[in-house]
Amino acid sequence: MEFLTPDKTHDESRQGEALVIEPGEKNNGRKLYIESYGCAMNFSDSEIVASILAEKGFETTGDFNNADVIFINTCSIRENAETRVRNRLKEFAYAKGKNPGMVVGVLGCMAERLKSKFLEEEKLVDVVVGPDAYRDLPNLIDKVDGGQKAVNVLLSREETYADISPVRLNSNGINAFVSIMRGCDNMCSFCVVPFTRGRERSRDAYSVVAECQDLFNKGYREVTLLGQNVDSYKWSATQLAEGATEVVNFANLLEMVALVNPELRVRFSTSHPKDITDEVLHTIAKYDNICNYIHLPVQSGNSRVLEIMNRTYDREWYMERVDAIRRIIPDCAISTDIITGFCTETEDEHNETLSMMDYVQYDYAYMFMYSERPGTLAAKRYADDIPEPIKAVRLNQVVAKQRESSHYRLQQHVGRVDRVLIEGFSKKSDKDYCGRNDKNAMVVFPVQEGYKPGQYANVLVEKCTSATLIGRIV
Ligand code: 5AD
Ligand code: SF4
Repeated sequence: MEFLTPDKTHDESRQGEALVIEPGEKNNGRKLYIESYGCAMNFSDSEIVASILAEKGFETTGDFNNADVIFINTCSIRENAETRVRNRLKEFAYAKGKNPGMVVGVLGCMAERLKSKFLEEEKLVDVVVGPDAYRDLPNLIDKVDGGQKAVNVLLSREETYADISPVRLNSNGINAFVSIMRGCDNMCSFCVVPFTRGRERSRDAYSVVAECQDLFNKGYREVTLLGQNVDSYKWSATQLAEGATEVVNFANLLEMVALVNPELRVRFSTSHPKDITDEVLHTIAKYDNICNYIHLPVQSGNSRVLEIMNRTYDREWYMERVDAIRRIIPDCAISTDIITGFCTETEDEHNETLSMMDYVQYDYAYMFMYSERPGTLAAKRYADDIPEPIKAVRLNQVVAKQRESSHYRLQQHVGRVDRVLIEGFSKKSDKDYCGRNDKNAMVVFPVQEGYKPGQYANVLVEKCTSATLIGRIV
């Protein structure tokens, strides 16, 4: 998730961002510094962690030199994500050298992958905590205060943190992430996530709706429902009247959230091509406030490569799903993830990825070279045999094609009036607002009286740069 994007879930500029919240009522005089790497799920988890610790009286700080507890919420998806965290730990070592009472903890996927090995490899680390064990953090900190090292990397089949109302970190008060499920059962052969985040489980649908309602009441106007594979969301309420069992699938949940309020925009990520149903597509088409934007990772355009990736669909299936999107939601943005140089990928097979890109004309793509991850099916079964320079050439071709396609898609908006949710001032000037349209494209336009962040504006798009639409309120 390493490219600059119009989408906060993968925003490169947020990697390693320190998360700061308003101080709570309780105060134990200790300060927590927490920063996150990787996907939106990690950022969302850090909000849960901050919430658990705020309950115990911790305040947050944006300066780690000032902190009593430093937490780094880590990502294992590619090797360079892990390298980045290791380098960051070196900087924390310096701070701890000056303040030996400081507690340094590693959370998230790297903690889960390396477990207690982390304590041997990185001597300064005191606590190692996997993604399902955050409720145990206060105890683990106590243990470290008592002079021990502490580890909890137990994965759970039930934990969804459904009852924890996450504090919103660095929030603009307008967009929020809402986690609807955890874990992944898919076992794509390249992917470490099923090992680091455990089995798939869905969160209580009513707690999701209550959280979205609460966000709306507080002034939020956009929620992004998060899960590794949202289309396999499935939750059943067995305790309903007279023992009836109600099963809520993802289409049902989307509808329930859309009905919270027509002024609340609903986004979601990530969809798996094998699971996305026509029912979901019809639900998106039915509600104006469900954004016409689907993140549908293809990974490769070649059926043999897809098979050894264990994606469980082939090129034709994927194209048929894209056709269904175009048929049911004629004006829908589609983004994707692509991996270049997966084990044994030939030049011809790579060219099929390029031709898939021509077929779909993606609005946006996250593009990566294959990075072998220890313990995955691919690492066990196939040699990582595509030389790095070839992976890079293929990646460059994919990136170049995507640049054209993104530009083509953005240009389609020029001359149109888009409904934009104003998020705040543009990065460059406080004379301009910025916000996103329904397709998740960033739109910049002059501030106008009577319009404030958190409101919608109809913006006539007059031109576009490589990643931004530019216009004026009409
Ligand atoms: N190497 C490269 N990219 C990977 N991804 C997942 N695992 C790997 C890996 N080992 C990419 C996939 C996935 C996205 C979140 O990260 O494209 O969809
Ligand atoms: Fe990884 Fe595949 Fe699960 Fe996505 S769907 S998290 S790529 S195993």
